[in-house]
Amino acid sequence: MEKIEISSSEKSDVYKELIPQIKSLTAYESDTIANLANIAAALKEAFGFFWVGFYLVKRDSKENKEVLVLGPFQGPVACTRIAYGKGVCGTAWKEQKTLVIPDVDKFPGHIACSSLSKSEIVVPVFHNNTVVAVLDIDSDELNSFDQTDALFLEEMLSGLIINNV
Ligand code: SME
Repeated sequence: MEKIEISSSEKSDVYKELIPQIKSLTAYESDTIANLANIAAALKEAFGFFWVGFYLVKRDSKENKEVLVLGPFQGPVACTRIAYGKGVCGTAWKEQKTLVIPDVDKFPGHIACSSLSKSEIVVPVFHNNTVVAVLDIDSDELNSFDQTDALFLEEMLSGLIINNV
């Protein structure tokens, strides 16, 4: 997809148009994979991000602990498992909050699934106050994300039901 420079207010306009579409796409569909796949596709189409996808909290039966496992995504092949507290995704899970990373090389422990990734935002998805998944968006440019993205993405994911998959 062709890359477009986008200002903060233009970004808000895109989110304001996109969020109702995503809510109506997912509201009457109970299948988690279908919903996450459509959200990743809609975000990639709307913004042309380098990588958009979900990691789901799952029990690793071999190690008998929870781990993030790659779910529906759009973009290049990515790491499949991320441990609690590791990388930006594992840290957002541990700290239970959205992380905006303007320069991934300055984030200690960043997991580079692709060397092209330069900035990143990770938004946790909650169920009963527990993180059940994270949305990860990567950009191949520095400083692509800010509080506007954080607020709109949190709103987009609020109320999303993640079933055991
Ligand atoms: N960079 C992430 C890993 C996932 S990929 O970017 C798709 C991290 O540090 O958690």
